[in-house]
Amino acid sequence: MSKLKILSVVGARPNFMKIAPIHRAFSNRQEIKSKILHTGQHYDEKMSDIFFNQLELPKPDFYLGIGGGSHTYQKANVMLKFEEILQEEKPDVVLVVGDVNATAACSIVAVKMGIRTAHVEAGLRSGDRSMPEEINRIITDAICDLLFVTEQSGMINLAKEGVPDHKVHFVGNVMIDSLTHYREKARKVDVLQFLGVASRSYMLMTMHRPHNVDNVEGLRSIIEIIRNATKHKSVLFAIHPRTSNNMKKFGLEEELKGIQDLILLEPQGYLEFLQLMDNAALIITDSGGIQEETTFLQVPCMTFRDSTERPVTVELGTNYLMNDLNPETVRIQMEKILNGESKTGIIPPLWDGKAAERIADILLT
Ligand code: UD1
Repeated sequence: MSKLKILSVVGARPNFMKIAPIHRAFSNRQEIKSKILHTGQHYDEKMSDIFFNQLELPKPDFYLGIGGGSHTYQKANVMLKFEEILQEEKPDVVLVVGDVNATAACSIVAVKMGIRTAHVEAGLRSGDRSMPEEINRIITDAICDLLFVTEQSGMINLAKEGVPDHKVHFVGNVMIDSLTHYREKARKVDVLQFLGVASRSYMLMTMHRPHNVDNVEGLRSIIEIIRNATKHKSVLFAIHPRTSNNMKKFGLEEELKGIQDLILLEPQGYLEFLQLMDNAALIITDSGGIQEETTFLQVPCMTFRDSTERPVTVELGTNYLMNDLNPETVRIQMEKILNGESKTGIIPPLWDGKAAERIADILLT
């Protein structure tokens, strides 16, 4: 019997921890031949290579080397190069994850070529079409053949959009598969020791959404929020290339670096960041995935967005949506959390480390 050939696509940092458990589950099935394609949207050691190493992913079978650039440039190039690879490779299934540019670009090409295409983390909607990720989600879900969903809101959104039931499967969260698989290993890395910080003695921060960091007002508010936060605890800021480039561009780099009790970090590896999240008193972010990881870890999280595509993290988890970067509103909420007035949350249904196995089962039926 010939094997089911599945080509899984990764492009940017948040994809790597989602594909790792999927590739592992596929590789454990004799009936599946699993290959990986990396578009190269994130390309440097700290944004990409370290994740492949730590998550025990093999070197990608295909690398498109797209790099940065406008979203149109990235997508158009991915589409041209991906089409050539599909013509050669002829997989039975193309699998895409999340909501980055690779997700939408590769699903369009695969579906047009008549290849069965699966989207993992389907159905999430923020309702905010100014976010590039929201457009990527809508496009991808509208055309894929199989939709794997992480939380109840995804099932409801897809039903509202008229997606037939037979395409949709509630399987849980593959990012949590990675977290449960590597949590023990992450406890053994020495990042806390190296930074000289004790468990719960610091707040951890990430910030990279264009809405927050592509304008000088947003960057100034971030600096103010950090200043207020350091009155309570040290702040560890794992700074994304987009954000550090913009701090430089707007002449704010020195001001940021001058804040006492702020420790600026380069983008962290998966294990290091997991240890940092697991031991933080509070996480301040605008990321998508961190909202879910903190909910699972039951660490309070303040998310600088006025909507979330992951409402379960607010309803059941430890996430608080902060509508804007107003330093005063942020200070009040932060103090409440640090004074112990924060929700402990519960872990959402099927976030149990077995989502990738469920996906493999469904693809083989
Ligand atoms: C992308 C994703 C976003 C995800 C984020 C996490 C889309 C639309 N957005 O946004 O969903 O949350 O990744 O990291 O796909 N850069 C480097 N080195 C790298 C990668 C990027 O210096 O390895 C630079 C780029 O050249 C660019 C900037 O960082 O100047 C932003 O990268 P880009 O891929 O445009 O989007 P992200 O903001 O990372």
